[in-house]
Amino acid sequence: MFSVYNAPLVVSVWIQSLQLTHTGNPTLLRTHTCGELRFEQIDSEATLCGWVDSARDHGGAVFLDLRDRYGKTQVVASPESGRELVDQASRLRAEDVVRVTGQVAARPEGTVNPKLATGEIEVRISSLEVLNKSKTPPFSPGTTDVPGEDLRLRHRYLDLRRPQLQQTMILRGQIIKTMRDYFAEHQFIDVETPVLGRSTPEGARDYLVPSRVSPGRFYALPQSPQLYKQILMVAGFDRYVQIARCFRDEDLRADRQPEFTQLDLEMSFVDADDVMGMIDGLMARLARDLLGQELTLPLPRMTYDEAMERFGHDAPDLRFGMELVDCSELAAQCEFRVFREAVDSGGRVRGLNAKSAAAAFSRKRIDELTDFVKQDFGAKGLAWFRVEADGKLWSPIAKNFDDSWLAKLAERMQAQAGDLLLFVADAWPITCKALNGLRKRLGHELKLYSPGTMHFSWVVQFPMFDWDADQQRWAAMHHPFTAPCKEDLDLLGTDPARARAQAYDLVINGSEAGGGTIRIHDSQQQQRVFDLLGIDAETARDRFGFLLEALQYGAPPHGGIALGIDRIVMLFAGLDSIRDCIAFPKTQRATDLMTEAPGEVDRRQLEELGLRALPITDKR
Ligand code: AMO
Ligand code: AMP
Repeated sequence: MFSVYNAPLVVSVWIQSLQLTHTGNPTLLRTHTCGELRFEQIDSEATLCGWVDSARDHGGAVFLDLRDRYGKTQVVASPESGRELVDQASRLRAEDVVRVTGQVAARPEGTVNPKLATGEIEVRISSLEVLNKSKTPPFSPGTTDVPGEDLRLRHRYLDLRRPQLQQTMILRGQIIKTMRDYFAEHQFIDVETPVLGRSTPEGARDYLVPSRVSPGRFYALPQSPQLYKQILMVAGFDRYVQIARCFRDEDLRADRQPEFTQLDLEMSFVDADDVMGMIDGLMARLARDLLGQELTLPLPRMTYDEAMERFGHDAPDLRFGMELVDCSELAAQCEFRVFREAVDSGGRVRGLNAKSAAAAFSRKRIDELTDFVKQDFGAKGLAWFRVEADGKLWSPIAKNFDDSWLAKLAERMQAQAGDLLLFVADAWPITCKALNGLRKRLGHELKLYSPGTMHFSWVVQFPMFDWDADQQRWAAMHHPFTAPCKEDLDLLGTDPARARAQAYDLVINGSEAGGGTIRIHDSQQQQRVFDLLGIDAETARDRFGFLLEALQYGAPPHGGIALGIDRIVMLFAGLDSIRDCIAFPKTQRATDLMTEAPGEVDRRQLEELGLRALPITDKR
């Protein structure tokens, strides 16, 4: 009898048989791929199919590089192959699709290409068939110059032929396969949840879909499967996982897409340690299998408060040190107006020591840093000191301080000759933002870490709430279903600002790669948190009534997490843009340049939906 427990075996046999059939199967158009031939195949005959990557005419002999997903192979039409074949080969252009047959031969001495896996051989062709001519492409995927992004996105099929994008998409597939294998081994059940559903409160704007059969009503595309996965726990599934597409209409950045993919999971009868432990194991597997790196488990953990104090950010880049140093106490004892006023008005003076960086930073470069903290983070300025050979601090503002105070500052900053000290005096949030920005920029510019390094860690115990000054109310820092830390339950009633959540974020190289929480599993506690968030009972019933109701029918304690797969691929591939990790991404303006989505629709379609569209004003 077929049992699910045999499934992995069946699948692996199936994959092996796939690998066998792509070589040597007479029904296919080719005998080998363009990345396959080696010295061992010399003297045998091979048939290859691929795209013309480049063509070179060397006085009578035509050399072509044929490219496919697996690699490149040099094929040659020489006078011995006959005039007609050489003529035919010389008419080929980049991106034509061809099929060639010929003998595998050793490349003549001095022409071996050690950079190419097939670089020892070439195929001397005896027949050539053009399977499809290509128009002259707007850019050649074979060249190393990467064209402008708009052009690449408009002709994504050409862009996706570039080996770098293909490698990234292959890596993406491997990461997803490893995730699926890992969770199957740990008894997780893969369940799909609806795409047409009700709005979930992850904090972004929803993408809405009008309903034809319920005029005036809308589905919301899921910002995450959050509520469904909690319901699955109530339903007794115990361990759920899904590779889920999520939709958020928010301002886009280099690491954000309107439509992105999460590894979403939920577990019953667990605490935060259990969920983090499960992800630790996954990260160790991914790092070992895909990066050849052994991680020490458990991954390091730091509380939110500590992360903000030491790094000014809740996803600190721990590939390098250069931690923030608080100098507020000292600042309170000085006469410099800028420092004193910041501290007197409840703010802070915090700084960084850029070790040995004084020589590298001219006045002009320091002015650039000053503009950077002002323009990007709203700081009022940047105070700085160079540490001279005798250990004394020099700065255009040094005259505002006496020598003994400067000596104390040097000690506090552990300053040594050649260091550059940088300070921001401001309200706490601005010191965090400005110094985090400065730290990241200097870490990069001073090359404080090597590009291949990967650092994984957790930030835990986030605050439950953020104060929303515009709306004058509390907002959930993660989402409203997050359980408070047990020891902070009383604070919900007395001092919500200090209540911490059973929340954890996975941080890789200073990026938030994932986030999750232990959930509230008691409907009364859930209503209490809704009350604090200003969600009254009626609104709660209207929007999440099904969850509140489900929580009353024996909900197990549960928690989970979601990892951003696109971001993880970006980090593992060492790329800077999430768009390079998604086959068909959207631009910063949330458009698809290839299909031109979003597009106009017929008036009739709108009428059926009971909608009327505004005239289109922007130009494409
Ligand atoms: P959260 O909103 O933190 O949590 O999302 C989880 C992870 O998804 C990734 N991510 C994104 N990636 C690309 N583009 C975006 N626009 C984008 N937004 C988020 C990030 C982030 O860490 N339901 C909860 C999870 C839970 O509590 O279990 C949730 O969605 O890497
Ligand atoms: P000012 O007196 O405003 O001209 O500032 C004197 C110096 O202090 C300049 O180098 C400013 O960049 C710096 N500075 C001004 N405001 C701040 C601040 N809030 N934090 C740190 N440095 C500041």
